[in-house]
Amino acid sequence: MSLFDAFRYDGKRALVVGGATGMGAAVAELARDAGAEVVVMDRAAVALEGVKTIHLDLSDKASIDAAVDECGGPVHTLFSCAGVADGTPGIERINFIGHRRLIDRMLASGALARGAAIGMISSAAGLGWQANLDVLREYLDITDFDDASRWAQENNKADYMWSKMAINAYVAREAFGLLKQGIRINAILPGPTNTPLAQANAEMWLGFGADYRTEAGIEASTPLEQAYPLLFLCSDAASGVNGITVITDAGYVSSGITESFPAATGAVQFLSGKF
Ligand SMILES: NC(=O)c1ccc[n+]([C@@H]2O[C@H](COP(=O)([O-])OP(=O)(O)OC[C@H]3O[C@@H](n4cnc5c(N)ncnc54)[C@H](O)[C@@H]3O)[C@@H](O)[C@H]2O)c1
Repeated sequence: MSLFDAFRYDGKRALVVGGATGMGAAVAELARDAGAEVVVMDRAAVALEGVKTIHLDLSDKASIDAAVDECGGPVHTLFSCAGVADGTPGIERINFIGHRRLIDRMLASGALARGAAIGMISSAAGLGWQANLDVLREYLDITDFDDASRWAQENNKADYMWSKMAINAYVAREAFGLLKQGIRINAILPGPTNTPLAQANAEMWLGFGADYRTEAGIEASTPLEQAYPLLFLCSDAASGVNGITVITDAGYVSSGITESFPAATGAVQFLSGKF
């Protein structure tokens, strides 16, 4: 035993939702290496060895409920990683409403219980959540899966930025209620990260901030570089951290806010809803 064990996952059962590729796959591998028993849910095939896999389609309510039942409990750590880009039908369900239903079902069944931690992958694309909090509250108040999906579609909010703002507002808003149940919730907001999803939308996703990275002499983030902070946030070492969305973008947003890299300022103001 050492003080550093608080960073590890020995004796914990970790569920990675969206762990077939990209950041989720890195999270699953890292959690396994940190000592956890790992369950991976995804709609795609999972290649990682030494983990249990469960099929899940987050756009489908029945699939979520079946996956939750198959997983059972306890789930000491839930990593909500799956996400899709604009143009994917059901994006509002896959990126947010489905994750929320899975969490709600696991809270109701007791699979997520006192001592558990939830870590979600949001995006810097959701930075504007505070500027849009009034409408986000209206949206988050619709707790039913189908009603929320309908609201997003009817209000032109079935898109990537809104889904990520919804996660950020959800994390901030649920933190207190969950803490009273002994559960923490946090999220990371990655900048451009080299994954299959980003490669499929390379011009927009990996082109973003390329000027900043060139001047700083760095590459786009690796999936593992995002997995490390997410694992930390859900570890006992982060027991004092709750309700926070950590911007894991190598400093692009901060440099835009402070104008230490002025070329980022306009983009950051736009993402923050400050136009
Ligand atoms: N790559 C980036 O630059 C970047 C930046 C910011 C945020 N993000 C976010 O990071 C998260 C992980 O994305 P990634 O870049 O690793 O991409 P990825 O495509 O490699 O990973 C996403 C995973 O989600 C799964 N998935 C997709 N739709 C699903 C569904 N309907 N049901 C169940 N699983 C489903 C995919 O099969 C895949 O395993 C996403 O939430 C994404 O929005 C990515």
